[in-house]
Amino acid sequence: METSSQPRIELGILNEEELKSVAKRFASCLSDGDILILSGEIGSGKTTFVRGLVTGLGCSEHIVTSPTFTLMNVYSCIKTVYHIDAYRLNNLEEIFYVLEGEIEEKDGIFVIEWGELVKEFFLEDFITIIFEHVDEGHRKVSITADSGRLELIRRCMHIG
Ligand SMILES: Nc1ncnc2c1ncn2[C@@H]1O[C@H](COP(=O)(O)OP(=O)(O)OP(=O)(O)O)[C@@H](O)[C@H]1O
Ligand SMILES: [Mg+2]
Repeated sequence: METSSQPRIELGILNEEELKSVAKRFASCLSDGDILILSGEIGSGKTTFVRGLVTGLGCSEHIVTSPTFTLMNVYSCIKTVYHIDAYRLNNLEEIFYVLEGEIEEKDGIFVIEWGELVKEFFLEDFITIIFEHVDEGHRKVSITADSGRLELIRRCMHIG
């Protein structure tokens, strides 16, 4: 898990609508080739975050489903979003065999729920979003990345 000494952006304690709206704003700070690791326990809001994210890229949130029975979901929004759930994959290598080309070509945004399980597959820098259950209706959300990227995100989201 992340260490507390790592620089991070605290997005606050958010209800569901706030979480989706933060994700929507965050989407505009992303570029093709970005890899997002969504980290947090079951029901902590990872898929909900992806719903908000795609609306920021011009898609309806209703296209997002949990990639439980498929290897991954691909959403053709303003940017292509590859949505993977590493927890539910049977074969971790397979997904990276499939994705390697896309990642190299920076063809889209890669969003990986439970992505901490597969971190070592990525040579590229990635952004980690951490979700913590606060109470039934609220989640604490924070972002970690290398410090340069974090600063860009902070500016892009008008934080601090
Ligand atoms: N503040 C909140 N943010 C996000 N989801 C919330 C919030 N409050 C309540 N919820 C509810 O919590 C659930 C979050 O589910 P979601 O599928 O997003 O979790 P997940 O982290 O993707 O879980 P899993 O690990 O099983 O994939 C939803 O039922 C949602 O309605
Ligand atoms: Mg999920």
